[in-house]
Amino acid sequence: MRLSHCHNFHDFRKLAKKRLPAPIFNYIDGAADDEITYHQNTASFERCDLVPNVLRGVKDIDMSVTVMGQKLAMPVYCSPTALQRLFHHQGENAVAAAAHKFGTMFGVSSLGTVSLEDIRKKYNNPQAYQFYFHKDRALNKAMMERAKLAGINVMMLTVDSITGGNRERDLRTGFSIPFKLTLGGMLQFAIKPMWGIHYITHERFKLPQLDEHVDMSGGALSIGRYFTEMLDPSMTWDDVAEMVQFWNGQFCLKGIISVEDAKRAADIGCTGIILSNHGGRQLDGSRTPFDQLSEIVDTVGNKIDVIMDSGIQRGTHVLKALSIGAKAVGLGRYYLYPLAAAGQNGVERALHIMKTEIERDMRLMGASCVDDLTRANVRFR
Ligand SMILES: Cc1cc2nc3c(=O)[nH]c(=O)nc-3n(C[C@H](O)[C@H](O)[C@H](O)COP(=O)(O)O)c2cc1C
Repeated sequence: MRLSHCHNFHDFRKLAKKRLPAPIFNYIDGAADDEITYHQNTASFERCDLVPNVLRGVKDIDMSVTVMGQKLAMPVYCSPTALQRLFHHQGENAVAAAAHKFGTMFGVSSLGTVSLEDIRKKYNNPQAYQFYFHKDRALNKAMMERAKLAGINVMMLTVDSITGGNRERDLRTGFSIPFKLTLGGMLQFAIKPMWGIHYITHERFKLPQLDEHVDMSGGALSIGRYFTEMLDPSMTWDDVAEMVQFWNGQFCLKGIISVEDAKRAADIGCTGIILSNHGGRQLDGSRTPFDQLSEIVDTVGNKIDVIMDSGIQRGTHVLKALSIGAKAVGLGRYYLYPLAAAGQNGVERALHIMKTEIERDMRLMGASCVDDLTRANVRFR
């Protein structure tokens, strides 16, 4: 199977599985507990039907949106994800370059493997910084100042990871940073030598968003210990309100599900919220963002930009979310499998396919711009 044979999410997933050592593939592909939420995220779109309009003059299609002050040429963006250079040696550079080519936003994770400054210098498309809240308040401020100085457009505080999710596939393979592979896990690396060759011959693995502030080098602190020792489980709305004021710019919370939390986010001055369950990787059994979307849009949609991620695999999924009132939609595994399969070429192909699907589907829906998509265009079964 080759990149040119990939026409949808499932094809990219298959190719990524072929190319990656199994522990890494399972880190991307896996989710929490019984992975029920992971599967529901996409299934929830299937419970909703599109109701198209015809004869609306759809020769020209404008799929651009403005979200949290950022103009995006397409209504999807690449959500921040950790450890991208483990998936392909081009890592975040590939994702940023592809997002730039398609005029959209990408997020750099706190656990990113390329520095936010390096990427900012290369690409001028909207860049979000995904942030975790540390016990050390001075460290939080130093990291935010660093992001401001780098020219980050959107601060994205992840709030659904107050502790790590139970990813049982990783327990079985021994996936962790630094690696503590089981024998079976090691064998899986041995049978995918190309991955190892790339890993050794390219830039040394590092976590530059953290290295400057926390000693993650040489395995001094594992990611697991970073979460339990450095992040603050006692964080409250007051702490976040202070951060929002300190940042004094576009600030969103990633991982909101309840209506009450959405209201509080608006009250403390956030400019956006991302309905997300982290792609099912945190609380299994959590309601899906798509199922929650209408209630949240109805409550805070006139005060704050409502965005969603988790489970998006198709242009029609994006259209359903936009019809209900999402301002934009985040992609996770949708671009990670292509990254793992073929680096920048893979991510570009995936975004191209997504763009083509959205354009075709908008025409078929009788919508020439995103504002033409409304609740009248969807019905739940
Ligand atoms: C391998 C992987 C790593 C991720 N790393 C992060 C991260 O570092 N920070 C974060 O806020 N979200 C992270 N996420 C969650 C994504 O940003 C996004 O919310 C999720 O992938 C959306 O679900 P989807 O994969 O079904 O599209 C990660 C997701 C995956 C699959």
